[in-house]
Amino acid sequence: MRHNLSDVGALIRDRRSFAPEQFSSRRVHRDVVEEVLRAGTWAATHGMTQPWRFSVFQGEGLAVIREGLPMWYATHVGEDHVVEKKLEKLRHRLDACNCVIGIGMVPDVNGRISTQDEEWAVAAAVQNMHLMCTAYGLGAKWTTPKFMTLPKVKEALGLPEDGKVMGLMYVGYPNRAWPKSHRWPLEFVTRWHDGTEEPRPHEQKPTV
Ligand SMILES: Cc1cc2nc3c(=O)[nH]c(=O)nc-3n(C[C@H](O)[C@H](O)[C@H](O)COP(=O)(O)O)c2cc1C
Repeated sequence: MRHNLSDVGALIRDRRSFAPEQFSSRRVHRDVVEEVLRAGTWAATHGMTQPWRFSVFQGEGLAVIREGLPMWYATHVGEDHVVEKKLEKLRHRLDACNCVIGIGMVPDVNGRISTQDEEWAVAAAVQNMHLMCTAYGLGAKWTTPKFMTLPKVKEALGLPEDGKVMGLMYVGYPNRAWPKSHRWPLEFVTRWHDGTEEPRPHEQKPTV
């Protein structure tokens, strides 16, 4: 065994999503953020293209996201369709959050690797980052709001024309107990093709 299986399994199961409203005011230091990002860069990457790009918003920089969230939402849905409650929630999204990581993807310049693979590599990076957050006792949430497709958001994250916004990750120390969660048991989502069972198709929503 190269690693402590019990520790690795516990870390994976302990990873939880925390909304930014569930953060305390405790500051997330830059060196910790760097460790989180470094974990992201160790994700698998088809052709070693390393398509992940991170834009860290902290301190004064947070104003871009604080002002952006309600504005981008209103732009996306159109002024006539703004839901005031949602707008108000977005206005206060960062009240207790002092670190937002913009997640971006920039595809391979030579076009050798499919956009899909580049996006998957970024998703793998986000998972690594989230696990590293968990190890530090940091809550985090990867969000993919519909408005992230707006050119303004891409601009705010400093991504090039061919880049893509893959979401916003809120990071902070939780102001609440670490929640438990659950997952379907393996037999709901796995079919063994090894002669031990009659093959059955996978179900859209597994039942007992
Ligand atoms: C690709 C992706 C996009 C997500 N986008 C959002 C989002 O926009 N808003 C949100 O509240 N949670 C989002 N989540 C987080 C899920 O809500 C969360 O993972 C789920 O509730 C399970 O909780 P857990 O992460 O604590 O296990 C996203 C998760 C993934 C993998």
